[in-house]
Amino acid sequence: MKPPVRIVVTGGAGQIAYSLVFRIASGELFGSDQPIILHLLELPSIIKHLNGVGMELNDCAYPLLYDIIITDDVKTAFTDVEYAFLVGAAPRTKDMQRADLIKANAEIFKVQGKALNNYANSKVKVVVVGNPANTNAYIAMRCAPDLAPEQFTAMTRLDHNRLLHQLANKLQVNVAEINNVIIWGNHSASQYTDIRYATTNVDQNWFINDLMPCVQQRGTSIIEIRGKSSAASAAYAAISHMRDWVKGTDQWVSMAIPSDGSYGIKEGLIYSYPVTIDNGIISIVQGLEIDEFSRKQLDKNQQELELEREAVLTNLTGF
Ligand code: NAD
Ligand code: LMR
Repeated sequence: MKPPVRIVVTGGAGQIAYSLVFRIASGELFGSDQPIILHLLELPSIIKHLNGVGMELNDCAYPLLYDIIITDDVKTAFTDVEYAFLVGAAPRTKDMQRADLIKANAEIFKVQGKALNNYANSKVKVVVVGNPANTNAYIAMRCAPDLAPEQFTAMTRLDHNRLLHQLANKLQVNVAEINNVIIWGNHSASQYTDIRYATTNVDQNWFINDLMPCVQQRGTSIIEIRGKSSAASAAYAAISHMRDWVKGTDQWVSMAIPSDGSYGIKEGLIYSYPVTIDNGIISIVQGLEIDEFSRKQLDKNQQELELEREAVLTNLTGF
């Protein structure tokens, strides 16, 4: 057996965590030879419920789960962690956009960015799930000057999976037969759901009027129909995101990462790109054609992310 790795999940008593932590503990993230120490962070008022989650984890008697640290203290939560799932944040409700959460959630990512900087393993890999995910990842990255920007990512894998399913369903094929879909930009209703490299076999009207809005609004549809925001699908996507980061990819996946200026996007914005991963190194797929329609979509996402960043700079003190 390998030595255990420390993994933090914030918002440990929330909906997403309730699916995520059991998958991690079962070995779905790193395989059956990798023991795990789970660090679970919650608000002080919710620790009682988190203790219940801890009891259930114990009741699964997972052989890989060496220890569980349940805490409301960020230092304890982030000390020596190698992998961080930043999930804990308020979800939006009906009639809100994800960006409306900036005020409520920005402070959380400032505090946690600093804690990652000060206490985490210096090679920590961070995925932000809590919304607005791209901008929260930007805040955490900016608050962690001793860590490399590349250690911070935000999750657009759920959008990527949603796009895969919708396209496979339209083409009446298995999802495994579809490659090279892309989510560009922001985890928001502006995201550009690019299928140009996956198929040329669909009608442009269907793409513009059905597929794009369906995927862009999928989170809203789930909230309306389920009464709560996506949770199990988000947890599955978070596992896939982190596992691919560590184990590598054999096809394109979408990840929001600090832009290096590729495709004309301003450096430093946390922007979703098509990427491949080898040996823990995330590389943006280069050389894709950006036609006029795509340019507009990419720029729209950039503008939105710049506005979110301005809102943070205005609202967040000590940033
Ligand atoms: P939830 O309300 O069920 O759980 C969130 C938990 O976070 C709560 O238990 C809360 O007490 C905790 N929390 C709040 N502030 C905290 C802090 N400072 N430290 C630690 N814990 C804290 O919400 P959920 O459904 O699990 O969703 C969590 C977040 O993920 C939301 O912001 C949601 O919008 C977002 N989300 C993102 C995606 C994506 O694709 N990126 C998908 C689904 C949901
Ligand atoms: C999602 O895409 O399901 C999440 O971001 C939750 C939301 O607010 O839409």
